[in-house]
Amino acid sequence: MNRRLLPLLTRTGHRRSGTHCRYKCGDACDRPVRNRSDNPTFREVVSGTVSRRSVLGAGLVLGASGALAACGAPGAPAAPPSSAAPVPPAPGLGFTAVPPNTADAVTVPPGYAQQVLIRWGDPVVTGAPTFDVANQTAAAQAQQFGFNNDFLAVVPIPGDPTRALLVANHEYTTEPFMHPGYDAKAPTPEQIAIGMAAHGMSVVAVSLDASSGRPTGVLQDPLNRRVTATTPFRLAGPVAGDPLVRTSADPEGRTVLGTLNNCAGGTTPWSTVLSGEENIDQYFANGKAVADPVLKARYERLGLDGEASERLWETADPRFDLLREPNEAHRFGWVVELDPFDPAAPPVKHTALGRFKHEGATVRTMPDGTTVAYMGDDERFEYAYKFVSSAKVRPGTAPADRAFNRTLLDQGTLFVATFTGGPTEGGGSGGRGEWRPLVESLPDGTARSFVPGFSGTEVLLFTRQAADVVGATKMDRPEDVEPHPVTGAVYMALTNNDERGVEPGAPGPDAANPRADNTNGQVVELVEDGSDPTARTFAWSLLLVCGDPAAADTYYAGFAKDQVSPISCPDNLAFDPTHGHLWISTDGNALDANDGLFAVSLAGADRGRVKQFLSVPTGAETCGPVLMRNCAMVSVQHPGEADDASIDRPKSHWPDGGSSPARPAVVVVWRSDGGAFGT
Ligand code: FEO
Ligand code: CA
Ligand code: CA
Repeated sequence: MNRRLLPLLTRTGHRRSGTHCRYKCGDACDRPVRNRSDNPTFREVVSGTVSRRSVLGAGLVLGASGALAACGAPGAPAAPPSSAAPVPPAPGLGFTAVPPNTADAVTVPPGYAQQVLIRWGDPVVTGAPTFDVANQTAAAQAQQFGFNNDFLAVVPIPGDPTRALLVANHEYTTEPFMHPGYDAKAPTPEQIAIGMAAHGMSVVAVSLDASSGRPTGVLQDPLNRRVTATTPFRLAGPVAGDPLVRTSADPEGRTVLGTLNNCAGGTTPWSTVLSGEENIDQYFANGKAVADPVLKARYERLGLDGEASERLWETADPRFDLLREPNEAHRFGWVVELDPFDPAAPPVKHTALGRFKHEGATVRTMPDGTTVAYMGDDERFEYAYKFVSSAKVRPGTAPADRAFNRTLLDQGTLFVATFTGGPTEGGGSGGRGEWRPLVESLPDGTARSFVPGFSGTEVLLFTRQAADVVGATKMDRPEDVEPHPVTGAVYMALTNNDERGVEPGAPGPDAANPRADNTNGQVVELVEDGSDPTARTFAWSLLLVCGDPAAADTYYAGFAKDQVSPISCPDNLAFDPTHGHLWISTDGNALDANDGLFAVSLAGADRGRVKQFLSVPTGAETCGPVLMRNCAMVSVQHPGEADDASIDRPKSHWPDGGSSPARPAVVVVWRSDGGAFGT
């Protein structure tokens, strides 16, 4: 077997280790840009539709660096002024900002307390064995909290203010940080089975503090549940039963074993949880050897073009070998829905939402029950999407209503985003955008394509290629795309893209992705016309162009940059329920400090003020933020991950300290005196 060479050094501009890249996303950044489509860049769009005079009059300069003038190139509008007089923070942003740091700890503002709620290996299912790192088994792991927790949801239990259900994603495993003496060339069958059991999702009941509502501990409960890489899922929507999802183990093409690489997600108004299957390519071997040119092209666009896989699951289960089971990979890369209140119901994969590297899905429901799901495809130069349901939510909570609502995401229209625009007064960029329809999933279980050359089910299965045809805008890694629960404005985190304008032939900067070699990322704000999530058009602006505030190419919504916390690589988004501030967790801080959780004011005089609320330990990523009335909760993912580290040589000892190896965990943070959160 000829395995991919491992990167020896951390890539320039990346804070993430080679280990991280291998295990989390299959070295996506070290592989060729997937999107080789020739749909127009912004440069071509403006040259075709806007006169040269009006472009230049607006101050648009695509210089040698490719950066927009608005972001600090010569001729740019004046940078936002530094203000001598500090602007008082908005209510809820009164905490003392955590300074950038590299501590092997979760660092919180003065006056705040923290607690580890649950960590890798802790019991989930009633009767689960106590974690024993030296004697791990797959049977135990399948009952314990999985590895590398990511998205978190806290789902209230109706009529019970003392308990809630915590739902967590377990995105990926890093075996060298799990098994002492791990040999990546020869994992044991049990280690492979443990890896499969450590993926997926957890449902676990938590106790709530009576006065504050803060989660205080985990409970044994009949609803506690683990979902793993082998749990049966039901395929739903038009692709269910399609010949391209039939396998030798499932000739009907309707039942898939497991979910993989579940990154972010969302909670629905009907109290289920959505979860995105992201970097699914890395689990499947031998795509490179596939001969059929049509299949090969489809595989390549998702990165299914390797040889042996990193974890060698194909040696234990032939469904992970594309030469033996070519359709198995078509059954991953979907948005899944799990009903935490119905452990007997198999979770569902909603094919109407398209197949790509789904970061997550977040929904907004209109008063008439129409529901819209916003989604990002997290890879360089990929796209942002939304799905508009054609059926309406039933407000009841009877079993029949809940069962109906679980079918809501099977009928409706999938759209992809385009952006046009340019610099705006004050230093940002903005413009207009359009949601272009790709496919409508119909009540009879069929799909109607709007893309020439693609059938309806082909659009759903090979969504990236279909989106190329309609001219979608290539973005800098779309991660969370989240509608504000009050204003309806939609926020889109674009983590980074150090290939933009760098590799020969790679697209250069455009209005919504304004920097070449973008190592720090940006956050875009969309206001759909009429604040209607079913609208086909929207206005957009750059909220944040992240990075060192002292650098000319950064922008903090026009707020004085000497009064903000530096932020880099925005990833997951959330809103606090009291003030509606935007909270951003980061993945891969390129400013030589650990990742963290940041609050951003969205309105008033301090719109654009960024304040760091916490930082996570050495090597960790902050994910899954949940803001409750009196606390914040985050996932601390992959603490201690570094190329020269392992469970035998830990770089982090969080959370247990001493000489213990690191364990991914969930942390709750609150004001220690019980005072109002955020003050
Ligand atoms: Fe799993 Fe898109 O980060
Ligand atoms: Ca990420
Ligand atoms: Ca992440």
